[in-house]
Amino acid sequence: MTDIEVRAAGADEWGAVRAVFSGAMMFDPGPEDELDRQLFEAERTLVATDGAEVVGTVMALTRDLSVPGAVVDAAHVTGVGVRATHRRRGVMSRLIGRQLRDVPEAIALLWASESAIYGRFGYAACAWSTDYEVDLHRVGPTNDRVRPDALGVLTADEALKELPSVLRRLQEQRPGVSGRSDLRWQKRLRDKPEHRNGSIARQILVHRDQDGAIDGYALWRGKMNWLPVGPANEVQLEELVALDATAYRELWQYLLTMDLSSKLTYGHAALDEPLQQLVNTPTALDRRISESLWLRVTDVSRALQQRQYVVPVDVVLDVTDGLIEANTGRFRLTVDGSSVTCQRTEDPADLSLSVTELGAIYLGERSLAEFAATGRVVEHTPGALYRTAAAFRWPVSPVSLEIF
Ligand SMILES: CC(C)(COP(=O)(O)OP(=O)(O)OC[C@H]1O[C@@H](n2cnc3c(N)ncnc32)[C@H](O)[C@@H]1OP(=O)(O)O)[C@@H](O)C(=O)NCCC(=O)NCCS
Repeated sequence: MTDIEVRAAGADEWGAVRAVFSGAMMFDPGPEDELDRQLFEAERTLVATDGAEVVGTVMALTRDLSVPGAVVDAAHVTGVGVRATHRRRGVMSRLIGRQLRDVPEAIALLWASESAIYGRFGYAACAWSTDYEVDLHRVGPTNDRVRPDALGVLTADEALKELPSVLRRLQEQRPGVSGRSDLRWQKRLRDKPEHRNGSIARQILVHRDQDGAIDGYALWRGKMNWLPVGPANEVQLEELVALDATAYRELWQYLLTMDLSSKLTYGHAALDEPLQQLVNTPTALDRRISESLWLRVTDVSRALQQRQYVVPVDVVLDVTDGLIEANTGRFRLTVDGSSVTCQRTEDPADLSLSVTELGAIYLGERSLAEFAATGRVVEHTPGALYRTAAAFRWPVSPVSLEIF
């Protein structure tokens, strides 16, 4: 390991970074792409080099994230890859350790390729994603009447202007939503024919309120499938955002009643996705739940201060962190309405836990009580566990709309 150096990438190293990461993940990067190059943040990318050769990478993207009651900066970690020739020699550990100590944001988050990788660095799964496969023949219509002028279709250029404000409003409603700059929106709406896999071009369906303002959208594709017995097309829903109940019901009415179609697939929905309320036969909604976001608290007092809590609480947390020393110690979290303080204290602890459990509960989906059940959270003051757990829980599940 002595000959492996870890340093920030140079602006001209996008090609080398891309080669290492795509090779590690085993995808064909295709020809170099100007948009991806523009999105490359060299100064926030760490590379491990063996001589002149880049052998490992990790990137942090500058994006914001909705958390309970706020939108905050969050290091979006991606591009974690080590050349197969250099694995299991501690290269990733060095890259991630340095990144977590360096990032200015109080939280870092990622989607994990494998669950076993990131727990050792203090990350925890903090949100679930639901993948649906809907049997459109069995599910039964929602029986909603759609206002005749409510639905429309946008071109990608129109969507680039109209949809960013809808996503920003979603961030005010739900935790877990990553902000998108103009460039990120361009990447999200890009629709290269070679990536369509036999499906039609992406459709951008929008819902408008009575005043004509867009209050929801769905990005979807269709795939023709003609069986000897007749049509069995597939509707592939990529992203659905609805800012109110009418938009939600009317967008789904459209999607669930698509002619010639027998199946709808929809990934990355929230755990509390209310779709089952709209249909006659909820058993026609086949659901699979998996981890989505993993979160790491890099600055305990700042992270706990920058979100909101459902009920008041005053608790002393004794936190351990094996990687970032400044996070180890006792912190008093005091919440009174929207006033939140979290400061170091010498007072005795009410609860003991590690920074990993704080990451797990940060977006309000998982409960502290889950971790007390296995001894990862220890209650010293009777009642402190439930009071603190209740304060951290949030009434709306997080949703992460895209793997970054
Ligand atoms: C995952 C990856 C980056 C790990 O790199 P690495 O340099 O071999 O990791 P390290 O040597 O620092 O490993 C640190 C520890 O994590 C463990 N570990 C690493 N990868 C693991 C994996 N995929 N599953 C389980 N444990 C893993 C190692 O065994 C080691 O454990 P130890 O400390 O008990 O010995 C590398 O295997 C890789 O590029 N994989 C393919 C791409 C990928 O999955 N990237 C992650 C995208 S989210």
